Amino acid sequence: MRLGVNIDHIAVLREARKINDPDPLDALGIVGRAGADQITIHLREDRRHINDYDAQRIIQNAPLPVNMECSLDPGIIEIVCRLQPHRATLVPERREEVTTEGGLDVVGQLDRISQVVQELRQAQIDVSLFVDPNLDAIGASAEVGADMVELHTGEYANIYAMLYTNLPHTPHAIQSLQLPRPQLKARLMEALEALEHSAIQAGKLGLIVAAGHGLNYQNVEGILRIPNIEELNIGQSIIARSVWVGLEQAVREMVALLHG
Ligand code: PXP
Repeated sequence: MRLGVNIDHIAVLREARKINDPDPLDALGIVGRAGADQITIHLREDRRHINDYDAQRIIQNAPLPVNMECSLDPGIIEIVCRLQPHRATLVPERREEVTTEGGLDVVGQLDRISQVVQELRQAQIDVSLFVDPNLDAIGASAEVGADMVELHTGEYANIYAMLYTNLPHTPHAIQSLQLPRPQLKARLMEALEALEHSAIQAGKLGLIVAAGHGLNYQNVEGILRIPNIEELNIGQSIIARSVWVGLEQAVREMVALLHG
């Protein structure tokens, strides 16, 4: 299982003070040394963390392939094509969201997504689509010519948090917290099954499969049992842990879980 470390939150900390420290560029060598396989960054339209200059320097200097998350906005796609990361992951983006809340509506935006996939592939960038784990989204992802899909694990992570940590971290999680435990357990199984069915279907259609969002040192185990998933992209939990043990150790611990 490959690990992509999402380093956006290093820039979140910098932007909290609007100064130049910490520099996400300094994470590259540490993440590489700790055994991760990929650097993931998200150049958001509002530039709330990673900015254009970060993205340029990270892509030029990373010792690992860079996976750049981006919206379908034409201005953003133009920047991605110019910077040429190893891969672009297309994600939905809403200004007011705290983090990417759902998967891309591939079925509803088939034409626009096909066009962007072609543009990116012409620029020799691999294309992944961040989708909710449902078969329609997987079928449409193959239809538009994506190389891979990243399955949104947010639903699974929220239910897991409600069941086992009592620390709901999204409004959606708080709503569902009202459910009795047996129902939550059933919903956790459903979320895992949806991920598994989607991963299997994606494999059948020749798509490489990644997963991510809300994964941490506890809940990742359930995802590791799903066939076909080759890569996880994890940010929040690794950067949070690095506050206590340092970034290198935090990445090493996650790599050990993924390999072990
Ligand atoms: N994958 C995608 C497509 C994302 O948008 C994010 C969040 O930026 C992640 C993975 C990482 O999520 P988390 O920070 O919850 O680990």
